[in-house]
Amino acid sequence: MAQYSPEIERSHITRLPDVNFDNLVFGEQFSDHQYELLYHEDTWGSPRIIPYGPIPVFPAVTTLHYGQAVFEGMKAFRYRDGRINIFRLEDHYNRFVRSCERLCIPPVPRPFFVEGIKTLIDIDREWVPRSKYKSLYIRPIVFASDQTLGLRRSRSYRFHILCGPVGDYYSEGIKPIRLTTMPQYVRAVQGGVGDVKVPGNYAASLKPTLEAQEKGYTQVLWLDAREHRFVEEVGSMNIFFVIDDVLVTPPLNGTILPGITRSCVLELALLKGLRVDERPVSIDELIGLHGSGSLSEIFGSGTAAVISPVGHIHHQGRTITILSKEMGPVARWFYDQITAVHHGEIPDEKSWCTII
Ligand code: COI
Repeated sequence: MAQYSPEIERSHITRLPDVNFDNLVFGEQFSDHQYELLYHEDTWGSPRIIPYGPIPVFPAVTTLHYGQAVFEGMKAFRYRDGRINIFRLEDHYNRFVRSCERLCIPPVPRPFFVEGIKTLIDIDREWVPRSKYKSLYIRPIVFASDQTLGLRRSRSYRFHILCGPVGDYYSEGIKPIRLTTMPQYVRAVQGGVGDVKVPGNYAASLKPTLEAQEKGYTQVLWLDAREHRFVEEVGSMNIFFVIDDVLVTPPLNGTILPGITRSCVLELALLKGLRVDERPVSIDELIGLHGSGSLSEIFGSGTAAVISPVGHIHHQGRTITILSKEMGPVARWFYDQITAVHHGEIPDEKSWCTII
């Protein structure tokens, strides 16, 4: 394996002056540089940091036809003293490796991923927003680059890391969003790829999400594929319920993405002394608990979304409406804690932060 010693080609110009940091639309701005690493003949080559721009891809690359690709999403935050925190870098690497294994992609060696991100963010550090609740979103992506229409594991791959400044993920900001179930569609099945970060999961969610949005909902609340009863996740987020002062979330049963922010919430809940129950929750149970007054809050967690309150859930003509105007106290507590760690305002007791 080559040593981690990236070749660096700096961009002659910066697009930074064109960016309005007060009005960031998620995923629309990209920093000046990207990281590139190629895999050929059983080895990862030498990493390069190059200006952000187009990459050579032939129309026959297998990714475009059969979707052999994996991505990650993480964030870097600025502390008040100017240092930069890459949040839960190792955890994202570990999930990336799991996703690669499921898709038969040779995992990028740890230093080429971890150090690559550090070098890229350091070079583009001016792109990390200075205000609280904003961040530099980091998107590693690996994809098959063999040219063949034969359905087989690729022998060559491209790994890229790109990044760009972001604010809130949803246009609602941190106001409660509206969810609906779509029992005629499913997101993931046991033994499938719902628990790894592959583009196809997101592509398959587009049509149901569009239909949900046409009816005035923000996102789909996915139900299990077998009985269409048990709540799984939101696609861009994991989901939590506060039921009689217990924090309840569906267990990671093979069809749910193991969210890194989900794990932050669970670890912080223990610190707070909040009881946690990872258990199956049916949509009918939720409707009943809402009716009896036991369900007091619903919120989602995700890297892009951080903590997002849910104000409505619609399911086959019935609606749960709860704290529809503002974030509830439990969600607010997690939001405040997580964003305080992001920006270095409270100690990093769990060693979640990589400082550069
Ligand atoms: C993330 O939260 O980082 C994701 O990858 C979800 C994506 C829909 C933005």
